[in-house]
Amino acid sequence: MSQDGRPIVELRGAGKSYGNVRALHGVDLQVFPSQVTCVLGDNGAGKSTLIKIISGLHQHSEGEFLVDGEPVRFTTPRQALDRGIATVYQDLATVPLMPVWRNFFLGSEMTRGPWPVRRLDITRMKKTADEELRNMGIILDDLDQPIGTLSGGQRQSVAIARAVYFGARVLILDEPTAALGVKQSGVVLKYIAAARDRGLGVIFITHNPHHAYMVGDHFSVLRLGTMELSASRSEVGLEELTNHMAGGAELAALKHELAQVRGVDVEKLPEKEDLTAPVVASEGTSS
Ligand SMILES: Nc1ncnc2c1ncn2[C@@H]1O[C@H](COP(=O)(O)OP(=O)(O)OP(=O)(O)O)[C@@H](O)[C@H]1O
Ligand SMILES: [Mg+2]
Repeated sequence: MSQDGRPIVELRGAGKSYGNVRALHGVDLQVFPSQVTCVLGDNGAGKSTLIKIISGLHQHSEGEFLVDGEPVRFTTPRQALDRGIATVYQDLATVPLMPVWRNFFLGSEMTRGPWPVRRLDITRMKKTADEELRNMGIILDDLDQPIGTLSGGQRQSVAIARAVYFGARVLILDEPTAALGVKQSGVVLKYIAAARDRGLGVIFITHNPHHAYMVGDHFSVLRLGTMELSASRSEVGLEELTNHMAGGAELAALKHELAQVRGVDVEKLPEKEDLTAPVVASEGTSS
């Protein structure tokens, strides 16, 4: 683990251009062990670009990228993985028809016996997968069931447990709750917290300030490729975070536009800090 509170991963003024498109510019980010760093932002804000740099898929074109205080420039995801940086993508790289335990060890299977007669050590893989999932508090009835039969939340959880088992120090999750319902999102948030408690530095990418605030220690909001807000939990509340995400001024403009469209009572639209409330259109009010 990093000593003296040094970040495992750090970006300093980092940026990335795709040809003429400047997707990311002047971004500072620090990822510490045992902390959840949330990266928030709207569509096209640069979230995926940011994590692609850290996970070795793309290279930054400006600024610095450091791991354990040392400048790095990864050219493959394998190099990031070798430094303990694991990424769980939303379209999980699992084989749906293979059993859960088999997916847990996919690409890193346990074997037994000397080379010419070496074979998969199925017993040990099943036992280890079972122990590791239980260690993270993930209880599945049957590890022989195809992973495709698990819910989205359970599959994310298995992927998190897998990264922990294979020694990840930094775990990157790209919108793990985006396609999930309330309950399944809760499941994933629980394992994000479990990974943090095991000492990992977690980078949690999300659109959802509520999800971020449930587990986050630090919040970075991207907007059009730059870091609009970078604040620790003690410096920012959920309301303010939601405002930053929504863009307070833009929301006010939208309200105004809606009012002009037709019959929408602006006063009854939710306040910008209360985006979860239902929108009430003014029907001819009962006389
Ligand atoms: N390979 C690419 N080539 C050219 N432009 C790209 C490429 N990838 C991303 N961009 C552009 O960079 C900007 C940031 O995109 P990015 O995918 O990082 O956003 P995001 O925050 O992940 O969005 P979303 O929430 O939709 O996933 C966008 O304007 C996008 O069009
Ligand atoms: Mg994205």
